Amino acid sequence: MEQEILKVLIRHAAIERRVRAVARHITGDFKGQRVHLIGVLKGACIFLSDLVREINLETSIDFIAVSSYGRGKDSSGQVRLLKDLDSNIQGLNVILVEDILDTGLTLNYLLRVLKQRKPKSLRVAALLDKPARRLKTVKADYVGFKIPNDFVVGYGLDYAERYRNLKDVCVLSLLPEQS
Ligand code: IMP
Ligand code: MG
Repeated sequence: MEQEILKVLIRHAAIERRVRAVARHITGDFKGQRVHLIGVLKGACIFLSDLVREINLETSIDFIAVSSYGRGKDSSGQVRLLKDLDSNIQGLNVILVEDILDTGLTLNYLLRVLKQRKPKSLRVAALLDKPARRLKTVKADYVGFKIPNDFVVGYGLDYAERYRNLKDVCVLSLLPEQS
């Protein structure tokens, strides 16, 4: 057994401010057009739901689910499509919404899959970016926060499916249980 220790990294108020700024940026970039947000389940669901409400354009949303991680902190390095989109994205201004950009394996895979479907444009919004761990050269067009190489939870991000409901983004450390 391990003891789980949480330390706040980014407070909810700072997240809210940054989400509004990213939404303003998107609103400016796509003036007069519709944007189709695709959330990567499950981690991006909280970010997407806050982001879409701050975008002042015609919008639509869809979700896709992939798995690249097991139940713990380490990547298996394998990306698998668990749930596909509900509708066609051909001709749409797609913004792929991710919770965190880490190794880049997930984003690299998703961009390849989505490009084949001929969207009008394809951009990426990531709440968090952990550039230190990048294995694939992929970049997000809109980034909330660059963070150091720590494992984080909260605001949608999980550890073994827990902690998604935290309002702040917190660093999770595991300590061997004291006896
Ligand atoms: P990547 O394929 O390595 O870029 O990882 C992307 C996915 O791994 C994210 O969408 C998260 O679900 C998960 N992930 C990566 N780093 C963290 C973290 O620090 N905390 C929680 N999940 C993470
Ligand atoms: Mg996860």
